[in-house]
Amino acid sequence: MDLRPIGVFDSGLGGLTVMKELMAQLPYENIIYFGDTARLPYGTRSRETIIKYSMQCIRFLLTQNIKVVVIACNTASSMALDAVREVFDIPIIGVVKPGAAAAVKATRNGRVGIIGTEATVQSGSYARAIASLDSHIQTRSIACSLFVPIVEEGWSDTPIAYLTAERYLGPLKEWGADTLILGCTHYPLLMDTISKVMGPDVILVNPAIGTALEVKRILEQRDMLNKSGQEPEYLYYLSDFSQRFKQIGSRFLNREIEYAGKVDIENY
Ligand code: DGL
Repeated sequence: MDLRPIGVFDSGLGGLTVMKELMAQLPYENIIYFGDTARLPYGTRSRETIIKYSMQCIRFLLTQNIKVVVIACNTASSMALDAVREVFDIPIIGVVKPGAAAAVKATRNGRVGIIGTEATVQSGSYARAIASLDSHIQTRSIACSLFVPIVEEGWSDTPIAYLTAERYLGPLKEWGADTLILGCTHYPLLMDTISKVMGPDVILVNPAIGTALEVKRILEQRDMLNKSGQEPEYLYYLSDFSQRFKQIGSRFLNREIEYAGKVDIENY
C-alpha cells in the first residue's frame, strides 16, 4: 500500500473533469491538482512549448511527494507524454490511450469521430492510438476551438452551444460516425448538447473514465493502491487566480473548491 497522493495536472481548470472521475473510481486516494491557469490555453501552442510547460508542471508535482502523475490535459497528453516519460522516473498516465481504447470497444460500424483542441487534432494522437489497437477502424478529427470558451462562460446548454456544435459536428454526423471521442477536458460538460446534435445512437466517449480505470489498474498492479479507508485529502494549486476560478472549478468538479494555493510555475 502507498498513501502518497496522485498528482494531476492540466492547462487550467478543465482537468477537474478527470479529477472527478479519479475521485469516483479511487475513493481513498489523496489527490493533488495543479492547473496552469497562468499559461492557459495549451491547445493553440507549439509542441515545444507544451513539452516545456508539462515538464514544469511535473517538476512542481514531484515536490509534493506524489506516487504517479496523471496528465489530465488532452493537449499535453497528445504532445508531451512520450517526452516526459523519457525524463521522469515515475509512472505517467495520459488520457489519450484510455480514451482511444474505450472508443475501439464502443464502435459498431468502425467509424470514430475525434474532437479536441487544434494541437490535439494536429498531433494525430487519438487516430494513431486507435490504429494501433485496430487498423480497420476509420477516424476523422475536427478541432472545435470555440467549445472551451463556451464552457468556461457557462453557456454549455444554450442555443449558442447548440449552433456551434451543429457547425463543427455536421460533417462527422454526415460521415456516419457512430462513436465520438470528447478529446478535451472541457467537452464532457457539453455532453447533452453534443448528443442532441449527433443523435441518441452515437456513443460519446469521455476519456476521463477510462483514464481513472487505467490509474486504478496501474496502482493495483504495483501494490500502490491506498486502501486505508480514510477520508482522502484533496489539494488544489494554480499558477494564476482568475476572478471566477472557484465558480468555474466547481462546475467542472461538481463540488466546491474552498481553497487553492498559488504556484510560481516559472520557477520549476
Ligand atoms: N485542457 C485542454 C485539453 O484538454 C483544453 C484547454 C487548453 O487548450 O488548454 O486539451
